[in-house]
Amino acid sequence: VKEVLIDCDPGIDDALALALAHGDPRLNVVGITAVGGNVPLEFTTENSLRLRDFYGMTAPVARGAGRPLVREGINAGNVHGVMGLGEVVLPETATELDPRHAVDLIIETLAAAPGEISLIATGPLTNIALAVRKEPRIVEWAAEFVIMGGAYTRGNRTPAAEFNVMADPEAAAVVFEAGWTTVMIGLDLTHQARANAEVRTRFAGLGRLESELLTPCLDFYGRFPDYRELGPAIHDACAVAYLIDPTLMDAVPARVDVETQGRYTSGMTVTDFQAPPEARNALVPTTLDQGRFWDLMTEAFGVVAKS
Ligand code: BDR
Ligand code: CA
Repeated sequence: VKEVLIDCDPGIDDALALALAHGDPRLNVVGITAVGGNVPLEFTTENSLRLRDFYGMTAPVARGAGRPLVREGINAGNVHGVMGLGEVVLPETATELDPRHAVDLIIETLAAAPGEISLIATGPLTNIALAVRKEPRIVEWAAEFVIMGGAYTRGNRTPAAEFNVMADPEAAAVVFEAGWTTVMIGLDLTHQARANAEVRTRFAGLGRLESELLTPCLDFYGRFPDYRELGPAIHDACAVAYLIDPTLMDAVPARVDVETQGRYTSGMTVTDFQAPPEARNALVPTTLDQGRFWDLMTEAFGVVAKS
């Protein structure tokens, strides 16, 4: 069983990523940290807490950075709804936040078991960049580091940039330059993970998970213009799926640099698949075995629905 700490900005696909992480028997979620992104930090934190309880998770939840390192914040309320889960409002929870800042939860959790805990980031990389700056040794301590972010062809927030990287390009630059191998699950991969009508028939029978979360969230998410034709892309769950079973994807080593200066290209993840081995800093999955991905998702959701 792999232990994992998840830094996220729920977010509809973040919510599904957490369900996958909790439901799959090969992962044990040891911490959840929230960052401002899709919606303001206040909502991503509250959603993290409520999702934790709704799914029956036990990991501590900590609040992180509410704005990017340098820039003004942007959000994706148009995709995820004003509060982040479409029109879904999960039951209130009495669970208290971990008193630590997310950055300290990340550092202390990894420090307690060097080489044993993996880190996944499915939102802007602000918390991770701050953690790297505060305690550079997390780069060695993290067993694996996987992000949903970036793209090697084109963006979604702008023609050049994917949302999570665009939201805090300076943080993303710190993270890619930190010295670890970043597994970059970008849009080229995640656009292969579509919750289309056929996929959604498999969620019937999942009880409250289906009726109170999956169906209303996916109905809302699927109304976003980019997702109407092929179904919504469940980006963030792909990062979790990689950690569970990397054989679901073909991956290519590369050098990734983040554009922070470009007038039209800020937030672009410039990906060089021809970089010499010593220059590589990333592993970039390119193809997804969609059949096995949805099998994994459906099985994990079944476990969550019963717990
Ligand atoms: C990413 O941006 C967010 O809106 C999603 O939650 C995902 O993490 C996709 O570009
Ligand atoms: Ca996200």
